[in-house]
Amino acid sequence: MSKYYAKTYKQDFTAVFNHKDCTRYYHELMKELDLVERSEIVAKYSERCLLPIFKQWALELNKPLKFVDMMCAYGNDTLVYTNAYYQEDFAKTWASDSTCYQLAKPRQLPVETLGVDKSESALQFGKKAGIFDKTQALDMNNLSESEAQSLKEQCHSANTLTMNSLGYIQEDQINKVIDWFSGGLEPGMIAIGFVYPYDGPERVSRFKQLLLEKLKFFASVPMTNIKLIEREGAKYGPEFGTWKTCYYEMWYLTRIA
Ligand SMILES: C[S@@+](CC[C@H](N)C(=O)[O-])C[C@H]1O[C@@H](n2cnc3c(N)ncnc32)[C@H](O)[C@@H]1O
Repeated sequence: MSKYYAKTYKQDFTAVFNHKDCTRYYHELMKELDLVERSEIVAKYSERCLLPIFKQWALELNKPLKFVDMMCAYGNDTLVYTNAYYQEDFAKTWASDSTCYQLAKPRQLPVETLGVDKSESALQFGKKAGIFDKTQALDMNNLSESEAQSLKEQCHSANTLTMNSLGYIQEDQINKVIDWFSGGLEPGMIAIGFVYPYDGPERVSRFKQLLLEKLKFFASVPMTNIKLIEREGAKYGPEFGTWKTCYYEMWYLTRIA
């Protein structure tokens, strides 16, 4: 099986991802590199096109939906879907360690959330702040048998699964998550984010082919991502070296009934 990673020359954010709370993540990635704009685009798209569907599913199932955030960090992607967080909401709460455990807006639908990441400090923060109801700390590239089994069950029972940051994870592990999610029995939607150039256009195309085999296409939404730092761009060479911005493409697909 392929262990192919994206050919990524990203700067190393490990210390940011392991800080005790979201404040470094907010200032160094979301604000400084403009990631926060992408969050608001997703939140507004979700409010207009996804939340009505999710609320209807919760009504029909007569229970809270199960929302899984893979490689969740501090929960910025969860907050855009479950709490419709805009840029001003992140600024109000995530910018300071005196406010970051408060939520600027309540959840917009009946939902139970699970955050999955290898950073225990990010998960602890997300739970304490009320973003995640449950957390699972694991290294997606080194899953034990029991972790893989438990993650399979979580993906299977998820009604919404969001997965970004694919560049960190081996291709076959991402494929497994797609496969596990597609095997679920309840209504379900996957929200998967592709980043150019970080995730590699060829690798992204293979993920898209698999998604289209296993699930039903719902929508794609283009957007900007973080600024591409000059030295990262230079390392990508002549093909991508002139880019100033990373671009983001969200794909949404539903389970086939
Ligand atoms: C940029 S953050 C993602 C936050 C959010 N999902 C987004 O895309 O904006 C990347 C996260 O991936 C996590 N991560 C990196 N490698 C991982 C691995 N092998 N297994 C699990 N999580 C990993 C990091 O700890 C970090 O929290």
